[in-house]
Amino acid sequence: MTQPVGFLGLGFYVPQRVMTNAELEKLVETSDEWIRTRTGISERRIAAEGENTSDLALKATQAALQDAKLKPTDLDLLLVATMTPDMPCPSTACILQAKLGAPQAAAMDVAAACSGFLFGLVMAQQFVASGTYKHVLVVGAEVLSRVVDWTDRGTCVLFGDGAGAAVIGRTAQGKILSTILGSDGTKVDLLKVPGGGTAQPASIQSVEARAHFLKMNGTEVFKHAVRGMADAAHEAIRRAGIQPEQVTCVVPHQANVRIIEAVVKKAGIPMEKVFLNVDRYGNMSAASTIVALCEAVQSGRIKKGDYVLLVVFGAGLTWGAAVLQW
Ligand code: UT7
Repeated sequence: MTQPVGFLGLGFYVPQRVMTNAELEKLVETSDEWIRTRTGISERRIAAEGENTSDLALKATQAALQDAKLKPTDLDLLLVATMTPDMPCPSTACILQAKLGAPQAAAMDVAAACSGFLFGLVMAQQFVASGTYKHVLVVGAEVLSRVVDWTDRGTCVLFGDGAGAAVIGRTAQGKILSTILGSDGTKVDLLKVPGGGTAQPASIQSVEARAHFLKMNGTEVFKHAVRGMADAAHEAIRRAGIQPEQVTCVVPHQANVRIIEAVVKKAGIPMEKVFLNVDRYGNMSAASTIVALCEAVQSGRIKKGDYVLLVVFGAGLTWGAAVLQW
């Protein structure tokens, strides 16, 4: 019988520099108390000058390969989920490929914002299940500190930098039992970086209008996130053929602890089952879920046989969920 598709190895990397809420108090009119009570965030990591998304991705990938006991030349496909690529073209996956030394692999980016890791995971699953590829690398990597507007208190307190990576292949470890993905392109305006593409190419005007920074309608995104994540969680659990009480650990996208609380309440899962790292890293977009999964496994929070629920939400809008059995 063919083996299921799962996780051969996991790794992550976060930049050394820690930025606390107290530091943000000096940049914008905010307070540690507001940030902690409204979001659950205490601190986040900030990439060093010259440290780019591909550099974070490289370190996370090297850790995942070590965990999988594989070499860069064992990889067939590199998928990098990011909304902060090193440059608009070529893909960060190709830049990673050169740094990693994996000339045999195909490489491309996945653009699904904060949901990107899960979208990449589902793509990897298809390539492995079909027999097209044996080992697919999925990375979620972001340097959001370079696209947040450090004068906008509504967004700059929320985000951080980091990367996580997984090698997907034939294994029973982290077996993918069910997945669901969704998108709603009518809500593009709720969360976007409007400048720098063909709609608004870089110009003196686009720079003056601060169009190259991230813009978000936080309240609207919050509402859609709760509904989208709760519905996706419910459907992934149903497709896996298990009951909500059988879920041992929930690894959600880490944007705001209040969103997570509302989602698991709707899904009928107690907060004690949720793995959180938003307090230490803030929202790392595509990197959040995979870094959290990695930490949950490495800390022993997820054990062999456990049912794990991944659930994500992001710009697009995009959302998704997956049930794994570790
Ligand atoms: O990764 C997926 C995408 N992102 C998300 O999922 C984020 C979703 N949204 C959120 O997490 C929340 O909406 C926020 C954390 C962004 C905002 O929390 P909120 O409870 O929805 O606050 P609010 O936007 O309704 O603002 C409440 C007040 C406002 O003041 P007034 O109008 O009541 O006087 C804001 O101006 O809080 C003010 N405010 C702040 N105050 C201190 C907004 N940002 C800050 C801040 N510090 N950093």
